[in-house]
Amino acid sequence: MKNAIARSTALLSTCALILTACGGNTSTNTNTSTTTTTNTSATVPIGIAVAQTSNVALLGQEQVAGAKIAEKYFNDQGGVNGTPIKLVFQDTAGDEAGTINAFQTLINKDKVVGIVGPTLSQQAFSADPIAERSKVPVLGPSNTAKGIPEIGDYVARVSAPVSVVAPNSVKAALKLNPNIKRVAVFYAQNDAFSKSETEIFQQTVKQQGLELVTVQKFQTSDTDFQSQATNAINLKPDLVIISGLAADGGNLVRQLRELGYKGVIVGGNGLNTSNILPVCKALCDGVLIAQAYSPEHPGAINAAFRKAYVDQYKKEPPQFSAQAFAAVQVYVEALKSLDQKNKVNKLQLPELRTELNKQILTGTYNTPLGEIGFTPLGEVVQKDFYVAQIKMEADGSKGKFTFLK
Ligand code: ALA
Repeated sequence: MKNAIARSTALLSTCALILTACGGNTSTNTNTSTTTTTNTSATVPIGIAVAQTSNVALLGQEQVAGAKIAEKYFNDQGGVNGTPIKLVFQDTAGDEAGTINAFQTLINKDKVVGIVGPTLSQQAFSADPIAERSKVPVLGPSNTAKGIPEIGDYVARVSAPVSVVAPNSVKAALKLNPNIKRVAVFYAQNDAFSKSETEIFQQTVKQQGLELVTVQKFQTSDTDFQSQATNAINLKPDLVIISGLAADGGNLVRQLRELGYKGVIVGGNGLNTSNILPVCKALCDGVLIAQAYSPEHPGAINAAFRKAYVDQYKKEPPQFSAQAFAAVQVYVEALKSLDQKNKVNKLQLPELRTELNKQILTGTYNTPLGEIGFTPLGEVVQKDFYVAQIKMEADGSKGKFTFLK
């Protein structure tokens, strides 16, 4: 496959490019509609704008891992019909300002064909409109709040929404303990995803005929949950459901247990990382979290992804890594299809971005998540979902997600 790349790279050196043609990295042009060609190397630049720093990096670092595995995997297979892809990483950190900066840099300076990112829906609602106005495709790798694809024509996601994923964990909790009646719900009120997810959790609780005994609010920056936890425990719930992010969510789980809560805990998508295990340690044991990915998913592409991840990280791949891999895969396969109809190295960047965006939405992709496609709006269409339960060693030093049957 490397030979295939070398041959095509030679062809591409005619510099018509997309992608960054001959002539060097030119000016930072903030008006993308006049952006033409700028790269020195014949690679296809794809932007990765996720949180590499801040607490949100507990999720974002898993996305970096998945994206890098995809870059190597698809380049080993010949990239885009012989032209390698090049991932360009810009750290969004954990907030909206950092995300807007990262998007602007990727769009105007790095001149990427499209962006994978950001990590949080909260960030997407601020930064995606910038890509939309610049007519640059965005694939959300983990943005699961209601309303993400609706941001614009250039915004799609590979991350199934809260409405599809979240109810599964409540149903699994009821299967494990059919006596559950009283439910306490917690959510981070400063986070768009957490607000969206809790709405679905609360609806599900009612649909399942359970009693919602309290709704407690917190901030993703909080570390002390004593008063909310005590309020909830006093109402004797037998199920607690948490919509927050990894650090706050892990601390809330720990404090609920320290204060004596013995019932079932469901964590939402923001807690779906083994990076919470060092936060709640042995007290994470038993937490249920719905999954949009299983390492056991059959098929060659997941086997290859899983092996690459396990070889490098010595543990099973998490959902955030699998979704980031899938997002890069969608770009590669859409670029390949587009290239067959309309040589991508002949297109100017604005046209390439627009044609690529159309192509993304028409394809189906056999990813580690299973086969996925998109609605015309850019919502992911995915079939398989799962629920996992955290199992910790008694001393809290190690743990893992075990998938329920
Ligand atoms: N799924 C979480 C979000 O959308 C990470 O923000």
